[in-house]
Amino acid sequence: MSEEKPGFGLSADVKSKLLNRLSAQMANRPAAGVAAVEAPAPVSSRPALGHPSVLEEIAMLRRAGDALGLESPFFRVNEGLPTPWSVIDGRRVLNFCAYNYLGLNGDPRVTAAANAAAERYGTSVSGSRIVSGERQVHRDLEAALAKVYQADDAIVLVNGHATNVTVISHLVGPGDAVICDALSHNSIIQGAQLAGAKRRSFLHNDLADLDRVLGEFGDTVKRRLVIVEGCYGMDGDAPDLAAMIPIIRRHRAHLMVDEAHGLGVLGERGLGVFEHCGVDPREVDVWMGTLSKTLATCGGFIAGSVEMVEYLRASAPGFLFSVGMPAPTAAASLEALRIMLAEPERMERLRTNGQVFVQAARAAGLDVGETLGRAIIPVIIGSSLRTTLVADRLWKRGIAAQPILYPGVPERSARLRFFVTSEHAPEDLRWAVSEVANALAEVGQTTPQALADLKTKLRK
Ligand SMILES: Cc1ncc(COP(=O)(O)O)c(C=O)c1O
Repeated sequence: MSEEKPGFGLSADVKSKLLNRLSAQMANRPAAGVAAVEAPAPVSSRPALGHPSVLEEIAMLRRAGDALGLESPFFRVNEGLPTPWSVIDGRRVLNFCAYNYLGLNGDPRVTAAANAAAERYGTSVSGSRIVSGERQVHRDLEAALAKVYQADDAIVLVNGHATNVTVISHLVGPGDAVICDALSHNSIIQGAQLAGAKRRSFLHNDLADLDRVLGEFGDTVKRRLVIVEGCYGMDGDAPDLAAMIPIIRRHRAHLMVDEAHGLGVLGERGLGVFEHCGVDPREVDVWMGTLSKTLATCGGFIAGSVEMVEYLRASAPGFLFSVGMPAPTAAASLEALRIMLAEPERMERLRTNGQVFVQAARAAGLDVGETLGRAIIPVIIGSSLRTTLVADRLWKRGIAAQPILYPGVPERSARLRFFVTSEHAPEDLRWAVSEVANALAEVGQTTPQALADLKTKLRK
């Protein structure tokens, strides 16, 4: 039978040109006998997708790590539950990298709630909520969250980061202004960018600066949305909400508070920053939070007025044009919230543990910044190189603490971030602090040489 089968209709000549082109592409050279205009550009002649500065930074970090002979502290695999002692990359370590603040991820009641919902509803709701994805458990979770904030209503979305992006960009737009704390989370900044509103930041937790920035707008904008976090994820400190609210009112602004790290952490009962500051939660226009920390799953929520929640339910793109939250996720977070409210002793343990860590750290001369000493405790080291070297030593001694480097935090404020939970044992916390102090002292002596070696190796 002839090679030129009907259906393909390719002549031997065309086939050979195609083969020639394919092999040329693989070898990254021009193909003979094929018109130049037909050939796709060789891969190497096209600029890489992505932002050049970020690509450069990733490559630079990799080269620096290789030059220093360090294992990457990123994307390590946790082989089980994110408990205080975890097996990560095959090593049993004291784990300070998980924001399982009240130990509810892994609680058998939370797991059972997820399992029961999976049995009944399956692993996906298989549709956007507006069309076919609505389940009773969504409504139950939203009602329970609204109750925490004494709000009219709440809405849950499938991802915390995307909640800020879609909600902020849908509440304000061109002609409005978004004013955020200088240490705001990326999701807040992206939401403000997408909104197309004027964007300004004020100095971290500095109310005089907030007042000044708000005053600068005059009549040039229609609405002013101030966004702060209830507990800052890199520093573990909180805004003075009681003093902030009168400023917001005076400027006829709206206030949104992101409680990703505040819920379950601040306040006697873990209700968050409003309880911590003794503020009526109805003074805040938009409560935002995530289910990924204390509430042990993933997703985001917004609580507030019935008008706002209805508006988001009817039209927020990230809600409307996205699948509803899986029922096991909603059921697990609902159970986690129930346990959080029923067992305030978890908050008590968290508070005690935070104080044990902070007091030991301060006694050892470590810089823990302005942390309130709850779930997030930074040990601020300054130099990215020293921070990385200390983290590496700790890892080798069985302590996992995440190094946070510029641009995750401002320049010269690189740090190790410790997520302390209600489940850590106080003696483990004291041991960890003493190991940090030891590692820091050792690295202090070797850093100048390491830096010189690094410079030489990177120049080669
Ligand atoms: C303040 C803040 N908001 C939003 C998010 C995003 O939440 P998620 O990780 O659940 O998507 C985070 C993440 O840690 C956060 O710290």
